[in-house]
Amino acid sequence: MRRLKSIHGEWSSRGAFFLAATGAVVGLGNIWKYPYIAGQNGGGAFLLLYLLCLLLVGMPLRMAELLLGRRGRGSPPTAFHELAVDEGRWRAWAAVGVFAVVASLLILSFYSVIAGWGLDYMWMSAVGSYRGQSESAIQGVFSALNDEPWRLLMWHTLFMGMTTAVVSRGVQRGLERVARVFVPVLFILLAVLGLYAAVEGNIVKAVHYLFTPDFAALNGKVVLIALGHAFFTLSLGMGTMMAYGAYLPEDVSILRVSVWIVLADTLAALLSGIAIYPLVFAGNLPAMQGPGLIFTVLPTAYGHAKYGDAFGALFYMALVLAAWTSAIALLEPGVAWLVERGMARAKAAMVLGSVVWFLGLMTILSFNIWSGVLILGHSWFGLLDMLTGNLMLPVIGLLIVVFVGWMVAERSLRQELQFRRGVFRIWLSVLRYVTPVAMLLVLLNALGLIRG
Ligand code: PFF
Ligand code: NA
Repeated sequence: MRRLKSIHGEWSSRGAFFLAATGAVVGLGNIWKYPYIAGQNGGGAFLLLYLLCLLLVGMPLRMAELLLGRRGRGSPPTAFHELAVDEGRWRAWAAVGVFAVVASLLILSFYSVIAGWGLDYMWMSAVGSYRGQSESAIQGVFSALNDEPWRLLMWHTLFMGMTTAVVSRGVQRGLERVARVFVPVLFILLAVLGLYAAVEGNIVKAVHYLFTPDFAALNGKVVLIALGHAFFTLSLGMGTMMAYGAYLPEDVSILRVSVWIVLADTLAALLSGIAIYPLVFAGNLPAMQGPGLIFTVLPTAYGHAKYGDAFGALFYMALVLAAWTSAIALLEPGVAWLVERGMARAKAAMVLGSVVWFLGLMTILSFNIWSGVLILGHSWFGLLDMLTGNLMLPVIGLLIVVFVGWMVAERSLRQELQFRRGVFRIWLSVLRYVTPVAMLLVLLNALGLIRG
């Protein structure tokens, strides 16, 4: 078949791709979400289940997306279009790519507002605003932040500016440069924060909480939570891995690099748990808090710990860095698409950055002025979160699996993956029969048609 070439350039090396892709996957999901859902759902048993989901469902799909991107050498709509043509399939498959771009932009619009909370907390930690306060006082600090649209707007604008600036500079001078510096910094920060918490807090209790398997806590619902999180944390079903795969040099092994990315993602989640829980337990604070864990409970802990202001600021800095490199990955597919349609990259980044910024205003207002406005029983933020995470992601993921598993010729797949025969058969069988069932379960659960 014809060999396509990316018009956006390629990653300059395998290492550069690894860092950029790790930046894309390690995000709010690792630092904010994993610690609280693991704690709520059986600790070590959840970890085992989650690793199983990563292996059985996350890995095959991640490889499928990278392969699709590299073979199609373009943004999701373009890659789908090129492959549909090559494989003699219906061109309307390109619509899946468009859908993926829309999903990633919608996600970015609220991801940026949450990253804005991180920026505000970084500032508050540095100036000691919550030093020594009680947990209920800090609840008040958090709701006061959300009551101030201008304050949220300022951080959202700053964060979108940072993201747009990087994407407008392109693959090597933008995406890759930021990842080379800040992904290592992020991991160093997490390690330092983990060490600090281990020394200052109750590491024994934290390790027990995170790693001791409580099999009694497992049930169907927990399986669905673990599955859903496996997709989200690996940034699957949103086209970003297709876009990153489009810039992947031919000689890089998709299997090997996928294994490393999954390991890095899991490491980040565990380090984050180690950075959080020892402090929470040392302060006798509630561990099962849920989503408020890092914005109300954790600041209380830092507010009472030695050098807590400085380490608190570092924690929120890690959160912002993780969110930033993920936000870049969310903006890139759409921008690449516009560039393929003839727009200059800087202009394309400006246009889409502004659209996302504008959509973000709705999220901001839904926290305060419009908090009473409900759409289908949800606030705008709740609606977006549900629509993207529970509906669009599994649907797009399912379509990607069907396309790669059933529409692309085996010969093309083998050429791209370069697997030995046995490994290839295992991968293809899992992709054809196991992954789609898992995605379907997540989808049906989200639609309320099955209950775990
Ligand atoms: N994987 C990211 C996280 O764990 O926070 C979330 C995400 C980022 C999903 C980028 C999708 C994406 F394109
Ligand atoms: Na992640």
